[in-house]
Amino acid sequence: MSSYKDVYQSWLNDKQGFWENAANDLSWDKKWDQVFDPTDGPYGRWFKGAMCNTAYNCLDRHVPDRPGQAAIIYHSEMTNEVQSISYEDLRDDVATFAKVIADQGVSKGDRVIIYMPMIPQAVIAMLACARIGAVHCVVFGGFAADELAIRINDCKPKLIIAASCGLEPNRVVEYKPLIDKAIDLATYKVETTLIYQRDGQSPASMGPNDKDWTQLFDEAKHKEETVDCVSLDATDPLYILYTSGTTGKPKGVVRDNGGHMVAMKWTMNNIYGIEPGEVMWAASDVGWVVGHSYIVYAPLLQGATTILYEGKPVGTPDASIFWKVIERHGVNILFTAPTAIRAIKREDPQGELIDQADTSSMRALFLAGERADPDTIKWAQSALDKPVIDHWWQTETAWAITAIPFGLEKCATKLGSSNLPMPGYEIDILTDEGGKCPPDEIGAIAIKLPLPPGCAPTIWEDDVRYKESYLSKFKGYYETADAGYMDEENYVYVMARTDDVINVAGHRLSTGGMEEVIAAHEDVAECAVFGVQDKLKGQLPLGLIVLNSGVTRPSSDIEQEVISLVREKIGPVAAFKTALTIDRLPKTRSGKILRGTISKIADGESYTTPATIDDPAILDDIKTVFKKRNIG
Ligand code: COA
Ligand code: AMP
Repeated sequence: MSSYKDVYQSWLNDKQGFWENAANDLSWDKKWDQVFDPTDGPYGRWFKGAMCNTAYNCLDRHVPDRPGQAAIIYHSEMTNEVQSISYEDLRDDVATFAKVIADQGVSKGDRVIIYMPMIPQAVIAMLACARIGAVHCVVFGGFAADELAIRINDCKPKLIIAASCGLEPNRVVEYKPLIDKAIDLATYKVETTLIYQRDGQSPASMGPNDKDWTQLFDEAKHKEETVDCVSLDATDPLYILYTSGTTGKPKGVVRDNGGHMVAMKWTMNNIYGIEPGEVMWAASDVGWVVGHSYIVYAPLLQGATTILYEGKPVGTPDASIFWKVIERHGVNILFTAPTAIRAIKREDPQGELIDQADTSSMRALFLAGERADPDTIKWAQSALDKPVIDHWWQTETAWAITAIPFGLEKCATKLGSSNLPMPGYEIDILTDEGGKCPPDEIGAIAIKLPLPPGCAPTIWEDDVRYKESYLSKFKGYYETADAGYMDEENYVYVMARTDDVINVAGHRLSTGGMEEVIAAHEDVAECAVFGVQDKLKGQLPLGLIVLNSGVTRPSSDIEQEVISLVREKIGPVAAFKTALTIDRLPKTRSGKILRGTISKIADGESYTTPATIDDPAILDDIKTVFKKRNIG
């Protein structure tokens, strides 16, 4: 059985048997009593009663067969370092570091925040947590101290593991002051911080609660102290990853151990077509779900080699770097965000730098994180002369909802589509009332419950929020908050979010979160943030602010302050660089801000003045303000 249709049908025929079969590819301390228990959690739990350890399956399981094979190739364009770490060495380092964190009092079920750049120690920290059953929570380095504090308060970590700094092309990001500020801001008090001082960079200054990674690691290594893998329930959490929701409070997406391993391993064979010993490169960051799934867990579960790349697609040093990394390390599958390809295309429109490298090892390029626009796909297909596959997923799912199962069958792609539903996902396009839309008609994209293994079973300590956020609108479905349509051949087209989330350079951000920050400025009466189209980053946030009456300071000063405030409170990753002062926000008579209409004006698209608008003249005022800034 090898066709997509057959495999999808076999899953439809026996949804539990399908995943039970896939689970047999992994090592379990005890097999499940039930493949799926629909009575546990918001919609059910996979592999109930099974015992396992994810780190064991990622590392120890492979050591007898492939001890010397590279598990990780760390390639840094920021420090000009390339380091290959074998399965055996990585297993040993993880076992040693697991002892270090266990000595800090961390044990099964405790949370550990990891705030690190793209260095091997980030992966070692994640896997060491997994080894002892601690629940890691990786926070992307581009978030500010306030965002870190929100996560500390929510997941209450026993320990924070961090590096002294991250390296951006234009600056060194000192992590320690950010951590100190976050610890100060947080109401939950973290006892210990373990700092990895990066070689050759200015060291972080250490306080009484800070411990030195290298010193403790070397001591444990010297004494040959390690910790064994702890046997965990398949339903125990492996990690929490926070993502933007509809308010300023991010959602702590929970990942379990058993279902996640099964899904990750299945996707390596069937979606990416990567065999053990082959090389996968997800050019993302360990702070995002793509990094969790395809830099760390899936390639290691498969016994493949993963590339850990510290750098950008352009400017480090130039737009040839992706192709040089592929040539040097024999990458078989590249996975990145469309924005990275747009950045490369802008610098090398003729693809000459691609022709100068030997990319023959590469079989396909997978794109996700935002909608892949047809121009970018066409350019990449022609410049690379290889399949370019858009696939759609979310932090909540951990793996592709729709894709081309490249390892199973090289089905045709369709431009503008994120392709076909994967086994595990039965997709319907629904109207607001919950009816099914006919083919090609746009509606809310919903997934029939239960979600497959790997998908979030809940939000950290908040089943109620999970149910309200995802399960309440359409009975029997998970609401994706994406809108789109499906054609006659079941190809899915994801067009827009139905909530306030925007997608900036493949990063998911909440405009509501930015509005909360801006509204706190003392001179701002009200504000609205929405996404405008951007050729490079897909979308960029734009803020409209209305000042309190009686404010006499220049509005340009307040606009700058608001921009700084978003950078300081949310972080540079928000890429919030434009705030405009207007007299009034356009609203409906019932007081709803007309975001869709403002977005259309900012994007230079045609629009009809909504019949419910309170005062149509406001739209002309906005157009005048936009025109002065060359917007629209
Ligand atoms: N730590 C600290 N700051 C970070 C950071 C990190 N890990 N990552 C990004 N930032 C900062 C950047 O330095 C930038 O700061 P600036 O305003 O001072 O210039 C800001 O956050 C915005 O970053 P970004 O949106 O990434 O823009 P960029 O101009 O640095 O790079 C691209 C543009 C397209 C090259 C880059 O966005 C990219 O490679 N994107 C790929 C996206 C991706 O991997 N998505 C994951 C899902 S697959
Ligand atoms: P994140 O949780 O950060 O991975 O972001 C998930 C969101 O990004 C989705 O809900 C979509 O809105 C968007 N997204 C991700 N991949 C795609 C894709 N291939 N096509 C369209 N939108 C996508």
